[in-house]
Amino acid sequence: MRYHIITFGCQMNVHDSEKIAGMLTELGYEKCDSAEQADVIVINTCCIRETAESKAISKIGSLKQIKDKHPEKIVAVCGCMTQAGDNSQKLSERFPFIDIIFGTHNIHHFKDYLLERRELGKKVVEIWEREEGAIDDVPVLTGNSVSAFVNIIYGCNNFCTYCIVPYVRGRERSRPFEAIYSEVKKLIEGDYKEVVLLGQNVNSYGNDIGGMKFYQLLDKLSKIEGKYRLRFMTSHPKDFDDNLIRVIRDNERVCNSIHLPVQSGSDRILKAMNRNYTAADYLKIIEKIYKHIPDCGITSDFMVGFPGETDEDFKATLDLVKKVRYNGCYMFVYSRRKGTPAAEWEQVPDEVKKQRIVELISLQNQITKEINREKYLGNTFEILVDGKHDKREGLYCGKTECGRLINFEGDESHIGQFLNVKVTKSATSALFGEICA
Ligand code: 5AD
Ligand code: SF4
Repeated sequence: MRYHIITFGCQMNVHDSEKIAGMLTELGYEKCDSAEQADVIVINTCCIRETAESKAISKIGSLKQIKDKHPEKIVAVCGCMTQAGDNSQKLSERFPFIDIIFGTHNIHHFKDYLLERRELGKKVVEIWEREEGAIDDVPVLTGNSVSAFVNIIYGCNNFCTYCIVPYVRGRERSRPFEAIYSEVKKLIEGDYKEVVLLGQNVNSYGNDIGGMKFYQLLDKLSKIEGKYRLRFMTSHPKDFDDNLIRVIRDNERVCNSIHLPVQSGSDRILKAMNRNYTAADYLKIIEKIYKHIPDCGITSDFMVGFPGETDEDFKATLDLVKKVRYNGCYMFVYSRRKGTPAAEWEQVPDEVKKQRIVELISLQNQITKEINREKYLGNTFEILVDGKHDKREGLYCGKTECGRLINFEGDESHIGQFLNVKVTKSATSALFGEICA
């Protein structure tokens, strides 16, 4: 018996799919590479932007043919999209061939749903309105043998006015320290070389259970013996504190890399977004980070075309990007999400949004090119090799501590190794290098 999982969205979803894979493995299923070969097909959806939803919907639609030919195959759809509003009902009506629909809060029950469908022939549509604490006893089948995700906190309490996440992922729930510690220790002892701590806002770790703060958690985890790297995402500027900068600076195992989404450079827009900081507050944090950790790789998320964003607001965003000089950015066009406050406000026309995203991307590309020349080209970096290049045979890749990907000519034996690589060539965002003796 074989399974195939198609995942949309962020690392949190990728990790949820690893849990689904873990449950399927326990039931005796083996992974395969296509829906055609699989007995169970799972689509783990995302709804952060309309584009993510459309992609998932078209993927689900494409399964109809397979289901028509092989009605015995089981199709399950889950994730943020099924959790939101009345989507589960709508999906079930539009795609009656789906066998199982579940949400983000009841993922740990997938095994029961699958058995119900398999043994009793029952179609299952089950969405839980509320989360049930921080679920801890789900088996995980990690996607690779080098780097693993570990959840530290689920949910989000911030309710940024554009964002659907708090509605589909529920309130903040921190996992107990002991559970996190033993999971990380086991991974390191199992020869993983990198652990990525996950949370919608890692900086609020512990607020709901009292006791340890995020910087203390990170400090404790980084004392586990061995050669490995610790990363974490995502940080919220309103909760980012000096203690964390100190822990990153003082612990070699904690990567000098911070994903700190700012979203906009305009105070007016930041206020309307309910972000709880100003551009000046944000720049102060950046200044402190660079002062204490000069080689820190800082990345961010940006959104253009938020309701009410004027040319002047957008210019403030461009100014901020020029000041920070990010190691990389994720840049999005605002997408109206039903049920969020901003969806009700007057929208920016699509053509304006398009012009702005093109301008923002080209500015960041220009900065990346300059940084590539100034900081990377000709210099040697220690990378952790975690896989192959998508397309080019013989090319392998790994990340620097500050989070930049370097491609190099290597072989299978390099996967999982820390290697020194000298950067010899740079394209806009990709770097190429050679292994140093
Ligand atoms: N439209 C566009 N981008 C969004 N993000 C969150 N909600 C939306 C939305 N409605 C972006 C933010 C966030 C990232 C994960 O996705 O930039 O940081
Ligand atoms: Fe969404 Fe804001 Fe929470 Fe991030 S902090 S998940 S953008 S509500």
